[in-house]
Amino acid sequence: MLTVAVLISGTGSNLRALLDAADEPDYPARIVVVGADREADGLAHAEEYGIPSFMVPWERFESRSAWGAEVAAQLAVWQPDLVVLSGLMRLLPAELVDAWSPRIINTHPAYLPEFPGAHGVRDALTAGVTQTGASVIVVDNGVDTGPILAQERVFVLPDDDEHALHARIKPVERRLLIDVVRRVATGELDLAAS
Ligand code: GAR
Repeated sequence: MLTVAVLISGTGSNLRALLDAADEPDYPARIVVVGADREADGLAHAEEYGIPSFMVPWERFESRSAWGAEVAAQLAVWQPDLVVLSGLMRLLPAELVDAWSPRIINTHPAYLPEFPGAHGVRDALTAGVTQTGASVIVVDNGVDTGPILAQERVFVLPDDDEHALHARIKPVERRLLIDVVRRVATGELDLAAS
């Protein structure tokens, strides 16, 4: 059984989907802890599922490195096989990435390498493209530059605003994320070879 830590910043709808999947008896991974950089609404999903959680508030630390060291200390308690960034809206310090990569993956609401960064959906709309997408990648020390594990296109509709487009991308992200975690767990996907 693959053990997974999930880090979030927001509503955690993708986390929720992963919790639902991991609750199925035949799913080969389970979530052992959920962490956040703030009082994220998504922490409630962990509570509902009886999964431990931790919070490392970004503003209480004087540097990214100090914040990351505390996140690393929390992860060390749980020793997950895999760390999933599911809407964590912080760049991790290099020390943390170096310690975990390639066993740390991220979901992103765009078809990378298109539209990396914190505003992938908004940037796609601003660019006026007709298609964007969703990606799951290995985290490296760039901004959404790691090896792509799975991705799928999503059409941009003429009346889309950021909310509407993001709402159509998220179900695709969820499906990709659940499948990637499953394939890592079964050994079908070897992160070290990515
Ligand atoms: C997801 O779309 C995720 O890809 C995105 O935040 C959203 C979190 O949604 N992450 C990024 O943009 C990271 N650059 P959720 O909290 O409802 O799961």
